Amino acid sequence: MAGTDSRVTIHMAASLDGFVARKDGSVEWLETSDEFPAGDTMDPGSVAAFLETIGCYVMGSRFEAKGLGWSYGDKPTFVLTHRELPRTRSTVEFHAGDLAQLVNERLRPSFHSIWFVGGGAVSGECLRRGLADEVRYSILPILIGDGIPFFENLGRDVALHLAELKAYRSGMVALRYEVRDRST
Ligand SMILES: NC(=O)c1ccc[n+]([C@@H]2O[C@H](COP(=O)([O-])OP(=O)(O)OC[C@H]3O[C@@H](n4cnc5c(N)ncnc54)[C@H](OP(=O)(O)O)[C@@H]3O)[C@@H](O)[C@H]2O)c1
Repeated sequence: MAGTDSRVTIHMAASLDGFVARKDGSVEWLETSDEFPAGDTMDPGSVAAFLETIGCYVMGSRFEAKGLGWSYGDKPTFVLTHRELPRTRSTVEFHAGDLAQLVNERLRPSFHSIWFVGGGAVSGECLRRGLADEVRYSILPILIGDGIPFFENLGRDVALHLAELKAYRSGMVALRYEVRDRST
């Protein structure tokens, strides 16, 4: 259970030039083949233990359709949509109302760790409206030139504090930033 110490994280993997998908939504380029020998390896046990700490996920409605599979186990998952979509998983709940109301009145009181996992429109709205506490950006060793940006329609500056960084053997660099002031 959460309350005032709840934390809203935005996490996505993106190309070095800042795109989370190609213009057509495809993400096959996420499978890169670099090797950085000095980097860390991901131990499946620690990854699983870390994922256990996440309370719920929030995402846009086009996420699953592009073949990324389902990485969210049986955690409650809130899918944002204005449409009537078929509910294919019991853990999924659709949401069409105000995003700030969902985060502040529904999710923060119930979950300690709330993860927004894409895409660009949802991440942009979340930051623009001062709803996120931290941004986790996993940069993949590839440039794709054009696509859907990580933060669409941000409309303002968001000052960050670099809190953590890690380079992996796969060539991925994981950055964690804290949002310095959600209200500005
Ligand atoms: N690289 C990565 O880590 C990563 C992560 C996530 C997604 N992606 C890719 O990014 C692309 C876009 O993904 P996405 O659809 O998840 O995200 P998105 O572009 O952020 O969200 C788009 C859809 O979500 C719904 N939506 C957004 N904000 C809403 C709000 N405030 N209230 C109600 N509905 C809202 C709308 O759905 P309706 O049209 O149904 O109303 C909208 O069309 C996909 O191609 C996906 O594969 C990549």
